[in-house]
Amino acid sequence: MALFHSFSSFSLFFVFSTTLFSTFSISYQQPILNSVEQESVYQVLHSINSDIPWRSLFPSDDLCFSSPHGVVCDYFTETSNVSSTETVHIVELNLGYVSDYTPNPPCTPNSTLSPLLFTSFKYLRKLFFYKCFTETRVSVPDILPSFGSSLEELVFVDNPSLVGSISELLCNLTSLRRAVVTGNGFDGKIPNGVGGLLNLEELTLSRNGLSGGIPLSLSKLKNLKVLDLSHNYLEGNVPEPMGNLSELLKLDVSYNGFTGKIPESFKAMKKLEFLDMSFNRFGNFGVPLFLSEMPRLREVYLSGNRLGGQIPDFWNELGGVTGIGFSDMGLIGNIPASMVVHLRSLCYLGLDNNKLEGTIPEEFGLLEFINEINLENNSLSGRVPFSAKLSSKMGHKLKLGGNPGLCFDESLMRRSAKNMSNLGQLKLCKKPHLPNPAQASSYSLAKAQAQTPSMFMFVGLFFFVLNFHY
Ligand SMILES: *[C@@H]1O[C@H](CO)[C@@H](O)[C@H](O)[C@H]1NC(C)=O
Ligand SMILES: *[C@@H]1O[C@H](CO)[C@@H](O)[C@H](O)[C@H]1NC(C)=O
Ligand SMILES: *[C@@H]1O[C@H](CO)[C@@H](O)[C@H](O)[C@H]1NC(C)=O
Ligand SMILES: *[C@@H]1O[C@H](CO)[C@@H](O)[C@H](O)[C@H]1NC(C)=O
Ligand SMILES: *[C@@H]1O[C@H](CO)[C@@H](O)[C@H](O)[C@H]1NC(C)=O
Ligand SMILES: *[C@@H]1O[C@H](CO)[C@@H](O)[C@H](O)[C@H]1NC(C)=O
Repeated sequence: MALFHSFSSFSLFFVFSTTLFSTFSISYQQPILNSVEQESVYQVLHSINSDIPWRSLFPSDDLCFSSPHGVVCDYFTETSNVSSTETVHIVELNLGYVSDYTPNPPCTPNSTLSPLLFTSFKYLRKLFFYKCFTETRVSVPDILPSFGSSLEELVFVDNPSLVGSISELLCNLTSLRRAVVTGNGFDGKIPNGVGGLLNLEELTLSRNGLSGGIPLSLSKLKNLKVLDLSHNYLEGNVPEPMGNLSELLKLDVSYNGFTGKIPESFKAMKKLEFLDMSFNRFGNFGVPLFLSEMPRLREVYLSGNRLGGQIPDFWNELGGVTGIGFSDMGLIGNIPASMVVHLRSLCYLGLDNNKLEGTIPEEFGLLEFINEINLENNSLSGRVPFSAKLSSKMGHKLKLGGNPGLCFDESLMRRSAKNMSNLGQLKLCKKPHLPNPAQASSYSLAKAQAQTPSMFMFVGLFFFVLNFHY
């Protein structure tokens, strides 16, 4: 029993599952894992955690019937012209304890990577490492992996001390469908060879130390649905042929050093739902107009690029958009009322740290699902149009500071003072709000103009009164 005390509960779980499965498997005459793979499994488990007596907990005679959680076997039938044989092989190695529901073999601060992992498993479909290499530096060995043509999923998440060149890891994995390599210490360039992995549906290489450009060959990955290269040191232009990735649902290249123009060819990505190009160094070409031709767009983030120009008035096909991040982009001009009119599903709007001027359109009051609005540090002026109900729903997520020309009604302050500390520095409007014809925005004004002249005169008069009082 001393054995049990030295491990935590996951070992107990292993022991229980062992007993359970052995009882089950007795009646079957299944093939047994060959000794090479068997021995390699023990070596790999030992290399990531030498504190657990793997051999005694999971005896070799039934390693595949009662394997540790995360070590998965599968059965194969090999036929020749004389006979057909049943064999069993390791098809998945999931290492690193995730949760009680996914109690993979736990790693330790001194986990290492056994080279046998790369040479012994010809049938491996999935290799998964979660928070395994966190202190001791570990590098991927420079060997052609034996699972080169079978591996479909490669998942390395949050292994900061796992280092090496990304090309050694990725190339030669010709069946790869999903590569999620995020939060590790990989560096070097994205290899040109990645364009040969034609089955890829997800390529996530975020939060590593990758440098260089996006290889042109990447645009050959016609099945790609998710491409995430965020939080690296990538630079150069985004290649024009990237627009050929017409199946993409998510594209994230945020937090890199990309320059030049966001390619026009992106308009061919008709299925795109999530686009994040924020915090790069894209040049002064304005907000890209192709956004209006992406009917499924839900979130778009371009913050921190000096794109300049005005916010385009192109929102009528974009009713599904829930999040817009256009902060710190050097934007000038007004906030178009049409933006708010069409974007009825909007939850998040960030337009802070630009040079926007004019009033906040009255139509903002219509946003039903809004959760956060940041208009800080612009040159907006006039009355804050949010109802007390909407403002208190947003609370401190309604950010309007740094706009010296804005004022708000006393009633708004009274009714939502408790959690609107951020409005504290705005001044009170001099006159109470006139409820009805107060559509003091250019959008409604234009509508009003299209109606009767008398209406127009009234609105004009109203403007005069308002201006006088600010
Ligand atoms: C199996 O078939 C191959 C040709 O397909 C032949 O060369 C070989 O002799 C056969 N082996 C046996 C044992 O029949
Ligand atoms: C790893 O560290 C543990 C203590 O955390 C120690 O018991 C074990 O022997 C070490 N393993 C290796 C391979 O150094
Ligand atoms: C492995 O990938 C490299 C780089 O793409 C390539 O040069 C090499 O020929 C490949 N080797 C095999 C056996 O496919
Ligand atoms: C890829 O994109 C480029 C430029 O955007 C275009 O000229 C080319 O025809 C496209 N290739 C394919 C195969 O669609
Ligand atoms: C607005 O500017 C102030 C002063 O420069 C700064 O402290 C604040 O963080 C800015 N607000 C936002 C949302 O960036
Ligand atoms: C702000 O306060 C109101 C009532 O005082 C409350 O209903 C609302 O949930 C609060 N909002 C936030 C974001 O805390």
